[in-house]
Amino acid sequence: MINNHGVSLTEKPQINLGLEGVYFMESKICKVDGKAGKLYYYGYDIGELAAASNFEEISYLLLYGELPTTKQMKDFSSALAEERNLDDRVINLIKGVPQETNPMHTLSAAMDLIGAYDKSAENTSDNESTSIRIISKIASVVAAIGSIRSSGKYTNPDPKLGHTANFLYMLNGEPKPKEVVKLADTMFLLHAEHSSNASTFSGIVTISTLSDIYSAVVSAINTLKGSLHGGADEAALKMIMSGVGKDPDKYIDGIISSGNRIMGFGHRVYKTYDPRAVIIKEQLKAAIRNTDDRVKKIADTAFMIEEAAIKRTGQKGIWPNVDFFSGPVYSYIGIEPELFTPVFALSRAPGWCSHIVEYLKNNRLIRPTVYYTGETGRPYKEINGR
Ligand code: ACO
Repeated sequence: MINNHGVSLTEKPQINLGLEGVYFMESKICKVDGKAGKLYYYGYDIGELAAASNFEEISYLLLYGELPTTKQMKDFSSALAEERNLDDRVINLIKGVPQETNPMHTLSAAMDLIGAYDKSAENTSDNESTSIRIISKIASVVAAIGSIRSSGKYTNPDPKLGHTANFLYMLNGEPKPKEVVKLADTMFLLHAEHSSNASTFSGIVTISTLSDIYSAVVSAINTLKGSLHGGADEAALKMIMSGVGKDPDKYIDGIISSGNRIMGFGHRVYKTYDPRAVIIKEQLKAAIRNTDDRVKKIADTAFMIEEAAIKRTGQKGIWPNVDFFSGPVYSYIGIEPELFTPVFALSRAPGWCSHIVEYLKNNRLIRPTVYYTGETGRPYKEINGR
């Protein structure tokens, strides 16, 4: 029997664990070419964007599908700056969670609360404006989580600063040098979008029920948290730091022989070097030329582990992904490891919003099927007779 979408309801189906290779929609937002190791946002090569563009500009690109004119860019930057303030209730929530709370839980709760108060989000004909609020406020929330954890203080946003400069200002309570802002901005740009990855897909599943954009972003945040996805950046840095001073070949052999994975390596789509990791590695090399011993030691260990790991896994198509060198770069910028995944979340917000809004334009409830292999017709026995 075939239903009216061409799906067989009776034959034993092919089961694609992890939905590997399953297409569920058409999209013009992002192309990930896993064979060639290429990545495009709306047709623009990631290498070219990283060299010439910035996070605010690609956020516009991801929301509207075109690069902005000068006026559009100015208006977009002002709109982002205007949305940075956080309600006291959100700041109090962040201050109220226990110190040991995983910051991804705090981020998720804070964004859910912001969504609860954002009545204008109900106007679904202006989803782009809601997206701008989310992109702006998620950065303020992450900065607030970081600064409240480290100093107990919340720093008000500075509307005169750009998005990334303001994030670092709110996080540290003081402005960061231009070259550090530029490096962080490039990192945000590189993390902004990546097609139907797990967190984006979970956001799309949520919006497909006609929930709301905030709820979809909260689903995406909670999905990003896992160590097979966004959580790998913190796990990769921990692995690199444990390898400091050790023989890299023996260290990697030990990880593999104990059945563990090399964090920051491997990808469902890339079977070659992740193009984002290529750029991040170059950024790291340039940054450590004038850095202190601590970060240099971490970076040098990362380069040695990378080489040792590729020797063992490259032939299997397991190469560094975006997370491998991100930790050392964020350490250079002065971001604590526990904040890496929240920073990933603020960077991915434009990609999430872009896909959520795109999906809504041609919405269909996402509801896949499991192939039932259990029994039917089992007789129910009263509890005393079991
Ligand atoms: N280290 C060692 N072996 C690995 C790794 C790794 N990092 N990744 C995959 N493999 C091996 C698996 O053990 C398996 O080997 P086998 O066939 O001998 O059993 C084979 O490669 C295929 O692994 P799968 O898990 O089926 O591949 P999948 O497509 O699901 O993997 C994933 C993708 C989950 C990212 C995986 O590579 C991994 O666990 N990497 C480490 C975590 C990580 O860095 N995640 C971040 C990904 S990027 C991002 O989400 C932003």
